[in-house]
Amino acid sequence: MIDSTDIQPGGVDRFPVRPAIPPARLDTLSRDILALKKKLNAVILAHNYQVPEVQDIADYVGDSLGLSQQAVKTSADVIVFCGVDFMAETAKILNPNKIVVLPDKDAGCSLEESCPAEKLAELQRTNPNFWTIAYINCSAAVKALCDVICTSGNAVKIVQAAPPDRDILFVPDENLGSWVTEQTGRKMTLWRGSCYVHVEWTHTAINRIRQQFPDAPLVAHPECTRAVRMLANEVCSTEKMVDWCKRTSSKQIIIATEAGMLHRLQKECPGKEFIAAPTENCRCNECRFMKMNTLEKVYDCMANLRPRIELPKALLDRARLPIERMLEISARPLENAG
Ligand code: 13P
Ligand code: SF4
Repeated sequence: MIDSTDIQPGGVDRFPVRPAIPPARLDTLSRDILALKKKLNAVILAHNYQVPEVQDIADYVGDSLGLSQQAVKTSADVIVFCGVDFMAETAKILNPNKIVVLPDKDAGCSLEESCPAEKLAELQRTNPNFWTIAYINCSAAVKALCDVICTSGNAVKIVQAAPPDRDILFVPDENLGSWVTEQTGRKMTLWRGSCYVHVEWTHTAINRIRQQFPDAPLVAHPECTRAVRMLANEVCSTEKMVDWCKRTSSKQIIIATEAGMLHRLQKECPGKEFIAAPTENCRCNECRFMKMNTLEKVYDCMANLRPRIELPKALLDRARLPIERMLEISARPLENAG
């Protein structure tokens, strides 16, 4: 992997270097986690942005859509969710009778914070014809107010399946929403939220790195701004990035998404080089929420079965409907998606 800060003479701050876990400690922790997993009949689900050592002990590593699909089909009694709180909440909503633990209870999301349920309800009252589509990066209370959920991996399909006579209200990511409008032509009212990490990439910074690697295609997440998306060869969810990078004949690829993605890409595409797209001021491209989970915390949450996701039954029941609708639309063959 090439860290773009290594190739920028005069670059300001370097991405923070995480202290490596000493190999002996890593071995012991990983062994203890696997033993606990067996004892608890637990499954470990990890998002693509988790630190490498957490990804490496997980049963499944993927994007928000893949993680929700895994949560539906697991027969485990305990779900250890290595991601952020809205992801673990989604797993709990889909499995109200299972124990769901999140290694760090403070692992939130800037998109989730941008959309409080009361404010959404206030906006919904202004137009009874709204069909509310919520990006999965939102609280359970917001999910409970929506008609259907989407992820970056299925947002286009979910919008295409919306009733044509309804006015779509898309929350909370303005960038994902505007990308979906570009793809579908469907006009939508967009909530003004954004991911604090993905808005760090700029047109200028991307152009600069492309001059250094003129043959390297750019793959960007749809949470990036339009100015960045328009420079990309591919805009897609983190899971689709893996498929795209496997298929391309290019040997060097520039990636504009959270840095944890590079571990998975490097593992699944040996022989290719991944270049972390630099942000304008070489500021960190790591999500501070995703990085709150560590291998030690994974062990602790399994040993204590805490922090545990607990939500009122009425909220679980109401929030399940739009998630199940998403999973059903997502599973439809493409020609019947509408
Ligand atoms: P994906 O569903 O594409 O993995 O995205 C989740 C996320 O939080 C991106 O910032
Ligand atoms: Fe939320 Fe952005 Fe972190 Fe994803 S990368 S969890 S959208 S803050």
